[in-house]
Amino acid sequence: MARWSLSGRSVQFLSTLKELPQARSNHTGSVPAVKESLYPRDNSTVRPFNEIPGLWKNSLANLYTFWRMDGFRNIHRIMVHNFNTFGPIYREKIGHYESVNIIRPEDAAILFKAEGHYPKRLRVEAWTSYRDYRNRKYGVLLKDGEDWKHNRIILNREVISPKVQGNFVPLLDEVGQDFVARVYKKIERSGKNEWTTDLSHELFKYALESVSVVLYGERLGLLLDYIDPDAQHFIDCITLMFKTTSPMLYLPPALLRCLGAKIWKDHIDAWDGIFNQADICIQNIYRQLRKAPEADGKYPGVLASLLMLDKLSIEDIKASITELMAGGVDTTSITLLWTLYELARHPDLQEEIRAEILAALVASKGDMVQMLKMVPLLKGALKETLRLHPVAVSLQRYITEDIVIQNYHIPAGVSLSPSLMTTLILYILYFTLFFIFGLFACVLSQSDISTAGSLRYGS
Ligand code: HEM
Repeated sequence: MARWSLSGRSVQFLSTLKELPQARSNHTGSVPAVKESLYPRDNSTVRPFNEIPGLWKNSLANLYTFWRMDGFRNIHRIMVHNFNTFGPIYREKIGHYESVNIIRPEDAAILFKAEGHYPKRLRVEAWTSYRDYRNRKYGVLLKDGEDWKHNRIILNREVISPKVQGNFVPLLDEVGQDFVARVYKKIERSGKNEWTTDLSHELFKYALESVSVVLYGERLGLLLDYIDPDAQHFIDCITLMFKTTSPMLYLPPALLRCLGAKIWKDHIDAWDGIFNQADICIQNIYRQLRKAPEADGKYPGVLASLLMLDKLSIEDIKASITELMAGGVDTTSITLLWTLYELARHPDLQEEIRAEILAALVASKGDMVQMLKMVPLLKGALKETLRLHPVAVSLQRYITEDIVIQNYHIPAGVSLSPSLMTTLILYILYFTLFFIFGLFACVLSQSDISTAGSLRYGS
């Protein structure tokens, strides 16, 4: 049981970390030369790469087992199981996916020191295959090397620098207010003072509406009772794109394409729909710019800002915008869902966070940007939720030099995955915090939600 303390108050959340065993194998063997500084301090013998425990000798059998265990949905459980079986480092080969999984934060630190000048990540082959097939550019998520850095520096300025984030707040606040209004309307209409719904679906729509308004500067109208068929098609494309991506992490897309598999065709249709949406938005932006070239002082969204900045090609912009959108929706909606779940299980903490937000609202005199700087307990709850229920279960890097981890020699070129399921490594985009905060600030500051009691889950 791990104890987590916030502002002097302790909250107990379950953690399996301390129950996890140490590596059990005790092999010896010869290894190629590795930088001296990388050898373990206790001078124990470094073991060769092939002695790393794990499931990597029969990739097809592993793929079958993975499928039998419903691995696409249970990957987090499989990770914990493998960790319990093999210890803090294990090799894995499932189908054509191969990696060395590491668990401890100090091992992740060794990895990041050896990753070279630019991060070299596992390609999401399903996504690169679509771009190659349709002759489209890669965005930052898929780019490598100098090209990645060039694009990333420009995106950093337009997406995550504190200077631009203030622009997002009013847009996100509006979506948050609409979401809360929708909840009230649904409760009222039920006639029973409650609303039973698939919350994950509602939060998905909230997240997509939020990301879209920031990226495209336009509301999709997903929080309305009637959803425009084009907007519904866009949601369906995003859902289909994610659904068809997971199997292609383990089955080569090139093979599925040769076989004319449905999953490949669906994947292509899904991305086509997503890119079409970006095309329509770009056309609208150009039309507006032609009509009213002088800015009216209103923030036009990331896409329009990038177009006006004119530092990236339209194709580069379009590629990164679609990746920002693909990366920003389920990550945030699922994190929100888990946070609400944890708060429902901890009503006292819920009350403390609500009090913190109300105090921040008064102190900031309604200035949302200032207010979001005054809610450390809420920020802590989100981070703790990400630790307990990481929406991205692992990171991934190819190393550019030989290293030693847990006394095993790992040659350059190997792919390593620090698990986010079992370490304390946290990743969160600042932008994410802003828009998750925005919703909480709205929901938890409404007085009658508190009088209705805690958020309730289950029966
Ligand atoms: C809880 C929220 C989120 C989590 C847990 C998450 C997780 C991650 C992880 C693990 C990576 C890979 C980082 C690496 O390889 O070093 C990543 C990259 C990325 N994420 Fe997120 N993410 C979240 C929210 C978002 C949001 C809101 C957006 C966009 C609006 C976004 C867009 C991206 C993009 C574009 C990349 C690629 C960046 C690059 O390679 O330069 N993510 N995210």
